[in-house]
Amino acid sequence: MEKIVIEGERRLEGRTRINGAKNAALPIMAACILLHGTSRIKGVPNIIDIQTQSEILQKLGGKIKRLDDGALEITFLDGENNDSFTAPYELVSKMRASICVLGPLLSKRRRAKVSYPGGCVIGQRPVDLHIKGLEALGARIETEEGYINATADVLKGTNVSFAGKTVLGTCNVMSAAVLAEGTTTIDYAACEPEVQDLAHFLNKAGAKISGIGESKLTIEGVRELHGIKYEIIPDRIEAGTFMIASAITRGDVTLENIRADHLSAVIEKLKEIGTEVIVTGNEIRVRGTGSYRTTDITTLPYPGMPTDMQAQFMALLCTVEGKSIITEKIFPDRFMHAAELRRMGADIRIEGTSAIVTGTPHLSGTNVQVSDLRAGAGLVLAGLVAKGSTHVHRIYHLDRGYERLEERLSALGAAIKRTEE
Ligand code: EPU
Repeated sequence: MEKIVIEGERRLEGRTRINGAKNAALPIMAACILLHGTSRIKGVPNIIDIQTQSEILQKLGGKIKRLDDGALEITFLDGENNDSFTAPYELVSKMRASICVLGPLLSKRRRAKVSYPGGCVIGQRPVDLHIKGLEALGARIETEEGYINATADVLKGTNVSFAGKTVLGTCNVMSAAVLAEGTTTIDYAACEPEVQDLAHFLNKAGAKISGIGESKLTIEGVRELHGIKYEIIPDRIEAGTFMIASAITRGDVTLENIRADHLSAVIEKLKEIGTEVIVTGNEIRVRGTGSYRTTDITTLPYPGMPTDMQAQFMALLCTVEGKSIITEKIFPDRFMHAAELRRMGADIRIEGTSAIVTGTPHLSGTNVQVSDLRAGAGLVLAGLVAKGSTHVHRIYHLDRGYERLEERLSALGAAIKRTEE
């Protein structure tokens, strides 16, 4: 096993490029099951979750290749290798997002057997809304031996009204509806940029989806979809993480390949705290001023503050004198990183779904354990500013979603390296 070791108190400076979005790439890769032909997708990051999704798609008959220019080539051909319909436990248990093959498989192959994802450290994470949405389109769904077993003779357009916002649930139902007979409307659809990116991808492949980015989606069923060239949107969470790396080290970092419109909540909050943020086209410069103010943060569906930025903001607010309150509205138990930050000297009290953070003069390095991807990002950020050495263990969680994080932080001036335990 590997760990990351950080010698803190180094100011970050320089430029780095942001990768394509993991959470857009995963459902877009799954949607390739719906297409006949080859797609070339640029910007797919080289991370473990993408490798897991590739393995699942290969089990389902897909051919996947990394091209010399970094693009991912995915081929599914009608009538070839398309009699498999199972996403097995070994792979789904590694990555919950593999649930997003459910809609495409059901739609294209009329049958899907996907291991029940179960909960994880960030919360219960049920899939009832995915199931209800697909049932409304005409699927029959049962749970058998830990698998979601879905079949359909035909999927028919209908109105699906979600009882709560769900990102991958919206992706699944939208993907299933594109080849259904007639028109489907989805009320209370998730509007996250990653959901929008999937819709744009599907439309380029021949689908007819309107209302993209709004909470009501309309999908007119079409007969077929074809392989295309596509470029994934930049990863707003990776961008946000590097923005806070600059802010927390009172640094001066410019990020290339960002979409400022996807980062509004993060930008506003960083400005409110006292960071200088300058957007120029698809670049963003974040300068840490050092004179910071406390703030309150509530995570919400897009365009609100992403839950995937909560741990990183918590690390930053641990260094800001005074009291800040962070309220988690998406995954109420997503505070595992708080206990580890406390080991670094942070003053954090959890009250229900809120964390009360009182800034301390300095954090100090120690051993910390990563519980999930974004918790890990928060701990690395805290390590960048802590006095002494921080040893971050269980970094396989980080490798699921950040490509060469330590190399890129090191290039910006951090004293950070990966070593064997
Ligand atoms: N929910 C239900 N029933 C469902 C589905 C969701 O009650 O059937 C609840 C969840 O328990 C949660 C809320 O709805 O309270 C929102 O969950 P959502 O379904 O939107 O989450 P997700 O689609 O499973 C994606 C991202 C997560 C991100 C969330 C919220 C991917 C691959 N994952 O998960 O990303 O935190 O949306 O924005 O897109 C990460 O990248 O580290 C990550 C965890």
